[in-house]
Amino acid sequence: MSKSSSAMHRRSFLAFLGKGTAGFILLPTGWAACSTKPSAVDEKLGIKPLVPSAADELMLADGLSYQVLVRWGDPIAPDIHFGFNNDFTAYRPLDPANPDEGLLWVNHEYVDPRFVSGGGSGAAAAAAKTRDQVVAEMAAVGGSILHIRRDKNAWQVVSGDPLNRRLDGSTMIPFNWPEPIAGAKQAMGTLANCSGGMLPNGNILTCEENYDQFYGERNTKTGAREPISSDMGWYRHFDNPPEHYGWVVEVNTLTGEAQKHVALGRCAHECATVQELADGRLVVYTGDDANDECLYKFIGSEPGSLREGTLYVARLDTGTWEAVVHERPELNEAFADQTEVLIRLRQAAKLLGGTPLDRPEDIDIDPLTGHVLVSLTNNKPKGNLLGSIMKLEEENGDFAALRFTTDTYLAGGKDTGFACPDNMAFDPRGNLWFTSDISGSALNKGVYASFGNNGLYLVPRSGPQAGEVIQVASAPVEAELTGPWFSPDGRTLFLSVQHPGEQSADIKQPSSHWPDGGDSMPKPAVVTIQGALLEAWSVV
Ligand code: FEO
Ligand code: CA
Ligand code: CA
Repeated sequence: MSKSSSAMHRRSFLAFLGKGTAGFILLPTGWAACSTKPSAVDEKLGIKPLVPSAADELMLADGLSYQVLVRWGDPIAPDIHFGFNNDFTAYRPLDPANPDEGLLWVNHEYVDPRFVSGGGSGAAAAAAKTRDQVVAEMAAVGGSILHIRRDKNAWQVVSGDPLNRRLDGSTMIPFNWPEPIAGAKQAMGTLANCSGGMLPNGNILTCEENYDQFYGERNTKTGAREPISSDMGWYRHFDNPPEHYGWVVEVNTLTGEAQKHVALGRCAHECATVQELADGRLVVYTGDDANDECLYKFIGSEPGSLREGTLYVARLDTGTWEAVVHERPELNEAFADQTEVLIRLRQAAKLLGGTPLDRPEDIDIDPLTGHVLVSLTNNKPKGNLLGSIMKLEEENGDFAALRFTTDTYLAGGKDTGFACPDNMAFDPRGNLWFTSDISGSALNKGVYASFGNNGLYLVPRSGPQAGEVIQVASAPVEAELTGPWFSPDGRTLFLSVQHPGEQSADIKQPSSHWPDGGDSMPKPAVVTIQGALLEAWSVV
C-alpha cells in the first residue's frame, strides 16, 4: 500500500472505529467507569510493533511482561489438577471493590491423547483406547475455577483453596429446559469448551464447540451415531448421546453449579457474548465455528433468563434476524417440536435462509459504539485464507433490534499484518486486542509465511497510533494465544497459550519446550501480562 493510500486508509478507519461517537458508553459488567476521552498519557505512547517471529517463546512488545500463572497438570486442590489446552478465561473479583483477588474461570478445550492418556490420534488409536485412558482424557477437559490473588504485582493461585474446582467430562450437568434431551434431564460432562462470555451476575458461559470429536453426531436419517475423522472414541466406553453436547453452559464460579442452556441452540458454539438490556433482559450473540455456518442472537423475554426467549439467525442479504421457532412454516414440517429445532439448529438455520459465514468465531461488543464485532477466521474451501473481522450495527443501536447492517471492520492481509483473527477483548479504554488462529500445520508456510507464529494484536483507539494494527505478542512454536480477558482495572491481561508443540511428530522430541525451556515437554498454560503499557491505560 502506498503512503498516501495508507494514510487515507487510516483516516477512514478512524471514522469507522467510531472515534468521537457521542453519547454511547457501554461498559462490560463489573468494569470500573472510565473516561471515554483519551488519557493524557495516550499521546506519549509509542508502541513498537513486534516483528513476526517463528521463535519458541512468548515474545511481548516493550512495555509488557508475563508470568506463568498455571500450567497443565499443576495441582490446584487435593487430587485436582489444571486441565489441558486452556482457552477462554474470565475473571470475577470476589469483592467488587478489590480487583486484586477473585475467581478465574479457564476453559479446557480438548486433549492431545499423546500427552494426556498415552493414547494416539486417528481412528485406530480411538478404537484401541481403554476405559482408563478415556477417564484420564475426561479429567483434562471442561473448565477450571481458580482462586487467584495479586500480591506485589504477581498473581498466584491460592493453592489448595476450597474455591478451586474442576468441571470436566464426567460432571453431571442438568439441562435448563422443560423437555428431556435425548431422553435425559442431565448430561455427563462438558467438553470442547472453546470461548465463552460472562453474565451480569458474574456467572460465566462456556461454549461446547467441536463436541462431535468426543461422542460423534447423530445421522438424523438413520438415527445412528457417526464418528468424525478426529474421533476420540469416548462413546465406546460411555454411551452418551451426541445431543448432550454442543450447548452453551452456565457456571456459577462461586459454587461450581452448572446448567446447559438449550434455548441458545446446539451447534459448534465458539462464544457467547452477553449484553444486558435496560429492562434486565439478556441478549447473547454466538457463532457456529465451521465453514459456511451461521451467526445467532438470543433475546430473553424475562429479565436475567436464558430459558425464556427467542433465538434468531442472521440473514445478511436482508439484514434481518430470523426467529428460529417451530411455528414457522419452514420449520413446522421438518421438525417435531421446538426441542428438535434447537437440537438440529444448523439445519433449521439453513431452512430460514441463515447466511453461511466464513467460520464465525469470537464476538465482542465495542464498549464505546455498541458495534458488534465478529471474527470470521477463514474459509479455506472458498479461498478465504486470511479472514477478517466483521462489524454488525444493530438498527438504532438497539441490541433487541431485528434489523442490522454489516461491513468489514478489518481484513487480514499483508497491509494489516495479521491473518485468521479469533478471540477479541476490549480493554477499559476501548482499545481492541485480538488474537490470531493460523492452524499449526500451516504456520510459517506459503501464504502464512509472513505472519510468523500466531500473535496478539492491538488496535489503539486514540493517540498517535490510533487505528493501526500493532502486533504485541508472538506465540511459542505451534501455539495459539486464546482467551484474552482484562482485570477490572485494566492492569492485567489474562491470556491462554494453547497447544504449544502440537505438531510434534514424537512428543519425546517435541517441537516446543514452552514454558519451561530446556528439554522439557511443552505445556499449555495461562499467563498474566502486565507492564507499563497496561498501567498507562489502567483505570485506577
Ligand atoms: Fe476453538 Fe473456534 O476455536
Ligand atoms: Ca477459538
Ligand atoms: Ca479458533
